[in-house]
Amino acid sequence: MISFKTKVWLSILGAPFALIFIYVITMQVRHPETRWDWNKIEVDAIDFPSGFQWGVATSSHQVEGNCNNNWSRWEASLNEDGTPRIHNGDRSAIACDHWNRYKEDIALIKALGVSVYRFSVEWSKIEPIAGNFDESAIQHYRDLCLALKDAGITPVVTLHHFTNPLWFEDMGAFENEANIRYLVRFSQRVFNSLKDHVAIWCTINEPTVYTSQGYFNGVWPPGKRDPQLAGEVMKNLLVAHTRVDWFVCRILDGVFNQGAIDYFQTGKFSFSMPGMDKVKYINKSGIGSLDFIGLNNYSHQRVKSQLNPKEFFRFEFYPHEEMTDMFYPIYPEAIYRSIKRVKDIDVPIIITENGIADKKDDRRNIYIERYLYSVSEAIKEGADIRGYYYWSLMDNFEWSEGYEMKFGLYEVDFTTQVRTLREGSKRYMDIVARFSQ
Ligand code: BGC
Repeated sequence: MISFKTKVWLSILGAPFALIFIYVITMQVRHPETRWDWNKIEVDAIDFPSGFQWGVATSSHQVEGNCNNNWSRWEASLNEDGTPRIHNGDRSAIACDHWNRYKEDIALIKALGVSVYRFSVEWSKIEPIAGNFDESAIQHYRDLCLALKDAGITPVVTLHHFTNPLWFEDMGAFENEANIRYLVRFSQRVFNSLKDHVAIWCTINEPTVYTSQGYFNGVWPPGKRDPQLAGEVMKNLLVAHTRVDWFVCRILDGVFNQGAIDYFQTGKFSFSMPGMDKVKYINKSGIGSLDFIGLNNYSHQRVKSQLNPKEFFRFEFYPHEEMTDMFYPIYPEAIYRSIKRVKDIDVPIIITENGIADKKDDRRNIYIERYLYSVSEAIKEGADIRGYYYWSLMDNFEWSEGYEMKFGLYEVDFTTQVRTLREGSKRYMDIVARFSQ
């Protein structure tokens, strides 16, 4: 750790990049990199407790089709230079038509041998106009839950997975703390309608990703690049979680940075970047506001500091690392390290997302066996992990990357909507079968 005094001294000298450089080194010392020799590891030497929940995950906008929300508007607009927002100019459009085909998709889930399906409810369909709730949309999700239960599959519901109704987006979404009440009202409505069928609830999917992509990198809606506002949005998402959680059994999906960890341990949230005022927030009800941690993990990013005040770091990968199609590598140790990092919050963990984009399907089996080996190692060392949900059940609309990325255990032909099991997915099925006795 560098002391406060040292920080002040460096800032006075006007050398913020030196500070960042030291900070990166400090982070490396505090969180040293784990590297295992995968050639020597016996990946079959795994163990999962009985009752472990094996599942698959999706989100509404990515699979349902016919959404009218902030993302559909974003997909239809252009970048400042006239290029499309989404890779290849893709639009989510009817996506996997899961809205109409959910019954056949449940049969596909069943065929995998898993017993949990995590999906999200689409706010823009349930409340297309502020305060006007569409009962038929709520009924749709009730029917989905009933069909899942009939098939012996446990529904897990995410209330907010990146998408906002247009009216909510237009009022500034999570930029304004006053708007949180709309998410709370919506969540209450959904919770009251589905609570008889759903025991596990995720409040907000990956607040950090929503914030960084939409307000920091500006590559997701609303396309802003404003670190100060990003801090505000992140804080409001954490507050929104606490308020939604007040009646929805205290859950959060997607905690993976220290700011959020601190919030749940101490009730204090602090966010700052060089050149911006610190966003600070204290809310003692943050403590204990989790029944479980929904951990989503895919890979790692190595941050390399550089002496450029405009861009003081860049992301780098080791040349020897095997890449996924998503421009980040296969790094199974990442999931082990993330578990170690959040386990201090001291509530059970569910891996609510993990998976690989692999069009050629030549790395999926290795990815699955190595990441599950890492999860099993963490369990052996005492981590309380209750479940693992593979992302994703089937290929779907991968946000900025459109339909190019193939995360599915099932391949989807988007012209015919035919779903076909991928060879590499059988590794997941084997492991699930082995530990589902
Ligand atoms: C998101 C998903 C996304 C997946 C793969 C997660 O961060 O929750 O919506 O499709 O990553 O990139």
